[in-house]
Amino acid sequence: MNNHEKYGLSPQYWQDRYDQGKTGWDRGGPSPMLLEWLASGALKPCTIFVPGCGRGHEVLALAKAGFQVTAVDYADSAVQSLQSQLKHHQLKAEVVQADIFQYCPTQLFDAIYEQTCLCAIDPAKRETYEQLITSWLRPQGKLFALFMQTDAAEGPPFACPLGEMQKLFSTGWTWTSEPKRVEHPMGLHEWASVLQKSANQ
Ligand SMILES: C[S@@+](CC[C@H](N)C(=O)[O-])C[C@H]1O[C@@H](n2cnc3c(N)ncnc32)[C@H](O)[C@@H]1O
Repeated sequence: MNNHEKYGLSPQYWQDRYDQGKTGWDRGGPSPMLLEWLASGALKPCTIFVPGCGRGHEVLALAKAGFQVTAVDYADSAVQSLQSQLKHHQLKAEVVQADIFQYCPTQLFDAIYEQTCLCAIDPAKRETYEQLITSWLRPQGKLFALFMQTDAAEGPPFACPLGEMQKLFSTGWTWTSEPKRVEHPMGLHEWASVLQKSANQ
């Protein structure tokens, strides 16, 4: 039985990964692609949501850059680490410990930053996840996504091939840029893409 079957990707599964230091996804700092989007002005201060934020290096970078950030994760260690880093750096962000599939924001966000959350959830839940992302974003809001690529049959990370992502994010979405390849220290790579929710969704 693999970890996925054993734990059903529960909060305990992720907590154990943090406890055991099995956090290969964690770059130890913000993704270079996020920094590029910030430097180019593709991503400008706004309300932004970060699902499955982990230790939240990107949340810290966004808060530092003047964004109003809301971040969700259900692993205790991840949330505590992010909260203490925010305090240490005297930065502000709303950090919610919750299951993203139960999360109901009180506002619609201008943008969502998706990094290794989609590849961390059960692939059977992807359509629900896409619907949630759509419901969390304001009309014409943007999704800044890093889609994880892997040949491994077992996850997490579960592969997010571009063709499948283009099908998943088709109705009600415009892909506004050519996907850009981003190397990941795990020896994998991601496709960085910016998608815009339609005005009438
Ligand atoms: C692969 S890690 C990525 C963390 C972070 N995005 C990063 O790139 O460093 C996936 C994270 O998503 C969280 N997660 C997975 N499923 C979740 C769910 N249903 N609700 C909330 N958090 C979830 C896990 O606890 C874990 O911290």
